[in-house]
Amino acid sequence: MGEGGKRKKKKKTEASLALQAPRGTRDFYPDEMRRRSWLFAKFRETAATFGFEEVDAPMVEHLDLFRRKAGEEIVDQLYHFTLHERELALRAEMTPSIARMVIARQGGMRFPIRWFTVTQNWRYERMTRGRKREHFQWNMDIWGEPGVEAEAELLSAMFTLIGRVGLAPGKVKIRLNSRALLEESLRAGVLADRPEVFEPLCVVIDKIDKIGAEAVTEQLTDEGGAVGLSPGEAEKVLEVLAARSLDDAARHAATDSPAIAELRRLYDLLDAYGIADAVPFDASVVRGLAYYTGVVFEAFDAGGTLRAIAGGGRYDRLAETLGGKPVPAVGFGFGDVVIGELLADEGLWPDLQREIDDVVFAFGPEEQPDAIRVAQRLRTAGRRVELTIGRAKLKRVLGDANDAGAERVYLIGDDERSRGVVKVRDLARREEHEEPLDG
Ligand code: HAM
Repeated sequence: MGEGGKRKKKKKTEASLALQAPRGTRDFYPDEMRRRSWLFAKFRETAATFGFEEVDAPMVEHLDLFRRKAGEEIVDQLYHFTLHERELALRAEMTPSIARMVIARQGGMRFPIRWFTVTQNWRYERMTRGRKREHFQWNMDIWGEPGVEAEAELLSAMFTLIGRVGLAPGKVKIRLNSRALLEESLRAGVLADRPEVFEPLCVVIDKIDKIGAEAVTEQLTDEGGAVGLSPGEAEKVLEVLAARSLDDAARHAATDSPAIAELRRLYDLLDAYGIADAVPFDASVVRGLAYYTGVVFEAFDAGGTLRAIAGGGRYDRLAETLGGKPVPAVGFGFGDVVIGELLADEGLWPDLQREIDDVVFAFGPEEQPDAIRVAQRLRTAGRRVELTIGRAKLKRVLGDANDAGAERVYLIGDDERSRGVVKVRDLARREEHEEPLDG
C-alpha cells in the first residue's frame, strides 16, 4: 500500500474508533438506562431507610488527593491529566472526596454523620468480567463513630439492598475480617521497628485469591520490595490468614485481644439484625486499599463465580493522613456492574418499559394546534403525555401507546375539531367517549 493508502486507512480507523465508546465504558440506551435508574432508586431508597443523606462532589479532583505510596492498583489506574499546569484526576473512588468534604467542615459538624453517594468512578483496569473502566458505585459511610455499631448498620443496609433487588437470602455472602487483628498478630514482630510496612503488606495479601499463596509469599519476602519479611514472618502471616472462624482466629491471637473482642461484639450485633450467618469470618479478606485500619468486608455471590459485588471497611486514619483532625470512619462501596450480572444470571431484572399516561394524536396538520392545547392541559395536570408529531400511522401510535402502558389516547380529526370535542379512547376499559376540546 502506498503512503496515500496508509494515511487513508489510518484516518478511517481513527474515524471509526471515534464512533465507538472507549473500551471499558458503556452507553446507556433507554433500555439500559431504565435498569440503571431502577437500581439507583433501590440504592437511594435503602440509604433513606437507614436515615442517610445524599451528598456529591466533583468527578475531577486534584491528583494529590488520590496519590498514595502503598503500591495499590487503584493509584496506578488513575485517569489523570495536566490542564493549565494543574495535575487533575477523574475520581477512581468516592472515599477521598468524602474525606475532603468532612475535613473542610470538621469544626462545625455534628458527628456521627451518615452520608451516601451514587457516583461514576474511573479506573484504567485490565478488563475482565465484572470489571470495567467506568462503573457506578453506591457508597454509604458513617463518620465519627468508633464502635462496631456503625459496621453493623452498614452490613445490614447492604443486605437490605440485596433483598430489595429480589435476591433470595443466601444468594450473597459478606466475608469479613479485621485488619486490626492482623496488625495485632504482627505488632511485636515485623511491625515493631517498621510499622509503615503494614499498609503495603495488606495490599500484597489482598492479591492472594488472584495470584495464590506462593506468589504472595514471594512478594512479602522480596528483599527489594516494600514489605521485606523474613520467610518465617511470611509463614506466620499466611497462617493467620488461614482462619475461617472467629474461634479459629482467636487461637492465633492474645487472650485479651481487643480485635477479637470487637469482632465478637460485632457478631452479637449482626445476630440481632438476623444476618450473622450470612457474614462468614474469613481472615484472608484484607482489601486492596491502603487506608483501612479495622473491620474489612467484601460481598460475593454465594456461587462464587463473580467478582466482588461490594467492599468496605473501617478507615479511622484517612482524615489525618489527608491533613485533617482524626475522626473515625467506616463505609462501603457497592458497584453497579457485578450486581447487574448476578441479577441477569438469576433472571431477576424486572421487565421495565417506557411509561406514559396519555397519547394525543391529530389526524392532520389543521388539528395539530388543538392537539397541542389538549396535550398541554393534560401535562399541566401532571400526566405524562406523548404528543404525536409529524406524520404517524394511527395503528402504530396505538400499538406504541399500549406497549408504554398508556391509559388513554386522545384523537382529534376534522370532525371532532368542527364540533369542538376530542375523542378519548380508554385503552384499559376498551371504551370511547368524547370530551370538550377545552377540558
Ligand atoms: P472497592 O473495593 O475498590 O472499594 O470498590 C467497591 C466496589 O465497586 C467493588 O466491590 C465493585 O463492586 C465495584 N468496582 C470497583 N472497581 C470496579 C470496576 N473497575 N468495574 C466495576 N465495578 C467496580 C472502594 O472503592 C472503597 N472506596 C469503598 C469504600 C467506601 N470503603 C469505605 N467507604
